[in-house]
Amino acid sequence: MIFLGIDLGTSSVKILATNEKHEIVGDVTKEYPVSFPQDKWAEQDPHDWWTQTKAAIIELVEKYDLPKDSIRSIGFSGQMHGLVALDVNDDVLLPAILWCDNRTEAECDDITNHFGKDKLRDLVGNKALTGFTAPKVLWVKKNRPDLFAKIEHIMLPKDYVRLCLTGDYAIDQSDAAGTIMLDVANRTWSKEMCKFLGVKDSWLPKLYESYEVTGTVTEAVKAELGLEGEILVVGGAGDQAAGAVGTGTVREGIVSVTLGTSGVVFAAHETYAVDEDCRLHAFCHANGKYHSMGVMLSAANCLNWWVENINKGVGFETLLAEAELVEAGSNKLIFLPYLMGERTPYADADAKGCFIGLDMNTSRGHMTRAVLEGVSFGLNDSLEILRDLKVPINEVRVIGGGAKSPLWKQILADVFNVEIQEINTNQGGGLGAAILAAVGAGVYKTVEEGCDQLIRVTNTVKPIPANVAMYQKTYPLYNKLYGDLASWFKVASN
Ligand code: XUL
Repeated sequence: MIFLGIDLGTSSVKILATNEKHEIVGDVTKEYPVSFPQDKWAEQDPHDWWTQTKAAIIELVEKYDLPKDSIRSIGFSGQMHGLVALDVNDDVLLPAILWCDNRTEAECDDITNHFGKDKLRDLVGNKALTGFTAPKVLWVKKNRPDLFAKIEHIMLPKDYVRLCLTGDYAIDQSDAAGTIMLDVANRTWSKEMCKFLGVKDSWLPKLYESYEVTGTVTEAVKAELGLEGEILVVGGAGDQAAGAVGTGTVREGIVSVTLGTSGVVFAAHETYAVDEDCRLHAFCHANGKYHSMGVMLSAANCLNWWVENINKGVGFETLLAEAELVEAGSNKLIFLPYLMGERTPYADADAKGCFIGLDMNTSRGHMTRAVLEGVSFGLNDSLEILRDLKVPINEVRVIGGGAKSPLWKQILADVFNVEIQEINTNQGGGLGAAILAAVGAGVYKTVEEGCDQLIRVTNTVKPIPANVAMYQKTYPLYNKLYGDLASWFKVASN
């Protein structure tokens, strides 16, 4: 029996297969383009997602010699927040407006001004950010009334692929939370928010938990893909919740940190908890519970920029070896990682990257180490909010490209003053999606049980007391800099 996890990302779809012996059988990735037609815009053609998903399934079955009737169920990990709008014939009305599209600053203000910050938090558990879906709906209403009038269905990216697979209009709670049209605490659509946006009940997909079966693959699609037998499709989850399932971050006390292009600090909660000021996103988790998360827009991306744009030709290994020779604290050189603005904790599209504290003794090693430290401090900003909210942080699991660097993991342990756990997989969302699929097929009773079977801690990185002491002196300096520079960021951006 095979379980597929479809990880519908921003640059590619990756499909991962597991079996009933809790083994990863194989994976296939297919890419597609993102277009940036105007400043701050980011769009994708939903047809590309479907075409490449089909191509990836066909290749996966062929490459790993999977019997035609072996696929029992399918789960998703989806790029979150993107708006897909369909007409009465299920035809796509306009390119999908993606999570990284920032055209909706005015619509975010409209939503915040209409409800007020406190009411908005009470309704949907979050503040209005340009990345989220509701302001995108409002943008279509204001700027493309001709298309808005034709809308019959709205959905998120992975739910468009689900529609193509099964013919069902369905969504899971974790992804629905990222629309800010969901009453997160009660796991129902927010009537008040939808009314304000002009969204009709009939446009909204039906809500499911991530591990619940939402439908089955149609006969026509199975024939096209060369598959046989009943194939269940479960709710799946937004990529962060699915990624957390893929690291076993499904119990209170476990926090996962993703050092990908962007950086995410993700904490699992037993019950709904929202910060009064909505400093973290408060969303539904894929195990039927809740989570909060902070999202840093540039994490491993800062190191990539430093290595590939600024030190072209030198290479990661040399630069990281130089950084390793430098003492913790980089001789008080501080790097602010806001190369693409910031989301948590500042929600400021104008914020900029900076090196502060250069002097005649500064070497390239200091600068590389300052980049690693600055990103770690930025992630620590989210951990500090969790600490402030009295969320237990017993262990931190790190995944993503940046987790390959032992030096970076040590810096994280020292900055966070918490043990960092390495796990047996770096598959994240795709694996989480396959676990959800297996729960839906009845192989595991709960998401937690699936995680226990597939995910193991393989190594622990302990904080070094002298470095912890150094970072406890440097972090407050870092933390103060954004406030000192915010007005300059504004001037420099206009
Ligand atoms: C989460 C978020 C990203 C996107 C793209 O809030 O914006 O995880 O889903 O990966």
